[in-house]
Amino acid sequence: MTEAVTVTRDGDIAIVTLDNPPVNALSLHLRKPLHEALMALRDDEAVRGLVLACAGRTFVSGADITEFGTPKALERPSLPDLIAALESFSKPTVAAIHGTALGGGLELAMGCHFRVADAGARFGLPEVKLGLLPGAGGTQRLPRLIGPMQALTLIVSGNPIGSGDALAAGLVEAVHDEALLANAVAFARAKADKGAALVPVSRREDKLAEAKNDLGGFDAAVAALLKKKRGLDAPARCAQSVRNGLVMPFEEALATERQYFVELVQGEQSRAQRHLFFAEREAAKVDGVGKDVAPRAVKRVGVIGAGTMGGGIAMSFLNGGVPVTILEVNREALDRGIATIAKNYDISVKRGSLTEGARDKRLGLLTGTTDYADLAECDLIIEAVFEEMAIKKEVFAKIEAVARPGTVLASNTSYLDIDEIAASTGRPQDVVGLHFFSPANIMRLLEIVRGGKTAPDVLATALSLARRIGKVPVVVGVCHGFVGNRMLAARSAELEDLLLEGAAPQQVDKVFTDFGWPMGPFAMGDLAGLDIGWRNRKALGKTAAIADALCEQGRFGQKTGKGFYVYEAGSRTPTPDTEVDTLITEKAGERGIERRDIAGDEITERTLYPMINEGAKILQEGIAARASDIDIVWVNGYGFPIGKGGPMYWAESEGLAKIVERLEFWHARTGKEVFKPAALLKEAAASGISLAALRKGKAA
Ligand code: 3HC
Ligand code: NAI
Repeated sequence: MTEAVTVTRDGDIAIVTLDNPPVNALSLHLRKPLHEALMALRDDEAVRGLVLACAGRTFVSGADITEFGTPKALERPSLPDLIAALESFSKPTVAAIHGTALGGGLELAMGCHFRVADAGARFGLPEVKLGLLPGAGGTQRLPRLIGPMQALTLIVSGNPIGSGDALAAGLVEAVHDEALLANAVAFARAKADKGAALVPVSRREDKLAEAKNDLGGFDAAVAALLKKKRGLDAPARCAQSVRNGLVMPFEEALATERQYFVELVQGEQSRAQRHLFFAEREAAKVDGVGKDVAPRAVKRVGVIGAGTMGGGIAMSFLNGGVPVTILEVNREALDRGIATIAKNYDISVKRGSLTEGARDKRLGLLTGTTDYADLAECDLIIEAVFEEMAIKKEVFAKIEAVARPGTVLASNTSYLDIDEIAASTGRPQDVVGLHFFSPANIMRLLEIVRGGKTAPDVLATALSLARRIGKVPVVVGVCHGFVGNRMLAARSAELEDLLLEGAAPQQVDKVFTDFGWPMGPFAMGDLAGLDIGWRNRKALGKTAAIADALCEQGRFGQKTGKGFYVYEAGSRTPTPDTEVDTLITEKAGERGIERRDIAGDEITERTLYPMINEGAKILQEGIAARASDIDIVWVNGYGFPIGKGGPMYWAESEGLAKIVERLEFWHARTGKEVFKPAALLKEAAASGISLAALRKGKAA
């Protein structure tokens, strides 16, 4: 093992190099020698300046998250101790930044007098994404360097910025295309030679003045930023802490920041968000797909069908810089599909989130065709045509006729059997499900459906491509609806009956939004369009008393101004409708159902508990490899509140024994299959072992 901290000299400039793979996190075994080195160098008269640099692929990317909640996190020297040591230097200190300077890493760099970076470096305070705030002075020093308004946006969003923006904002003093370390040393030496007074960042006040004089403006910016962060504690704490810096002396604001950090790190939300951080990384580790399995090269992607999903999937690849050939049944459908893609990019340009140059570059990567022969050059071909097995098989036969050997053949099917599709081809090993979520260019989740014969390097290809286009991949097995839609069906099974038995759509939706979902199921149905489900039901010979009746009246949801709710012209705000109440009462009457008051708990028990139960069945069957994979699916694909860590994580905190007991109650009362507790759930509840641990035991 290499030393975590080494000190070398370039003449009279000391270079302190941190080396704690993989991301140079500030673990205790690094903090200790770093503190010692800093104290020694500070008092070493032969040293006229200091450069802080990192070995490996990145600068320090934060505190060591695995230490949170353990004694190591509390052991000194702490990160604030290190920063205080740096700020006590009376000779120039320079951070030389490559890779990412994130969280505690950026805070450490802000403890230096100066920062120089290489052109590809990125800077951010992403703590909010872990349910935290920067706890080592980040909310105090960043505003002093780049101004409180810009700092507020960075801290509340948690999103990083690049070197160019960092230089413009004043976060770094210089950016170099090459020879970062040599340039950093030269920078330190020049500052030492100049002998000008050195002011630690914590003592700089000039950038605070404007916001101090306009607290009203600052508060308005806070309110706008927090609008979308409903239900989460950390963003509000981040904003409050930046504000404290405007109204309190530095030391007081710093101590308050630390206190907020300690509160948040012990809280449920941060625990849940940290669970999701590691769960996301865990999901990328797939049985049988080790590091030795090389992905196939993908230089061009083919997409078949330029409808809702095909268009969005194409955009996902174009956004990631991957050329796309898109195929449609005829010229008219193709032109329509391509026009929609162009229109979506135009909207982004209008909103200012995309430059015209970037739009043109992306559209320049897109080719349209109606001829399968034009797909011959593609390394991956994804079909997104109508959801019908016969059509899918026909399309796969046409793909197979033109695709080179080794081309990955994928289906975006939501429900259909990937093994059946694969078996219809002569190369089942190349077939995989790539289930994108709508809108595909926005939603981060990608369910990668592993067929019985899917080759490991096809999975490796899907995983690496997902990363390349910024998706969160989860590998799942074959079953009707895979992980997400299968659990969604279980969550939805009781919705109509709840209405018939006495609940109102707005009451059910409120239980969901109070829980933290962005929307309740009825408002969601209105948004997506009730006619889609209606058409599906008709095709399958199924019915839904209330939704069918609404559709028969032309109430398709937002698009017709009426659905489960009514919408004022041009508004997306759902207003409860007495006509719907009457309809529900009528339908209940026809069925001889006596309506009663339904409590919020009952709504939870009859929607979320069956969903957990289905998740346990999915685990039991090995459709998902881990409970945490299911959490990643739900958080990234269906808006499960991140502060609750995903359904399976939440279930543990709700209490598995309680869930089983209530499921058994409803099963006895209704006889419905959705309530019949899964064997794995019962086993976990009885043994007190978590679902995650139990499942791991099974897999081993
Ligand atoms: N602590 C501990 N482990 C970490 C870590 C951290 N801060 N950051 C990453 N890791 C681990 C990952 O779990 C992963 O482990 P694994 O290989 O065993 O799965 C490994 O490092 C590599 O991580 P990635 O797969 O994410 O690698 P990438 O190259 O894709 O991304 C990264 C690198 C951008 C640095 C990304 O890992 C990241 O965003 N890390 C978290 C950054 C962060 O949130 N920092 C703030 C921490 S909180 C803090 O600093 C509090 C302070 O204010 C007091
Ligand atoms: P869509 O109806 O919007 O688009 C389908 C497109 O495929 C149409 O443009 C049609 O012209 C084209 N098409 C039909 N047959 C074709 C053929 N033989 N060759 C070439 N093109 C053909 O449908 P949507 O919503 O995009 O769905 C496509 C697939 O994606 C389905 O399998 C669906 O289950 C799945 N899916 C849909 C989601 C959604 O929310 N809409 C989410 C995830 C998956």
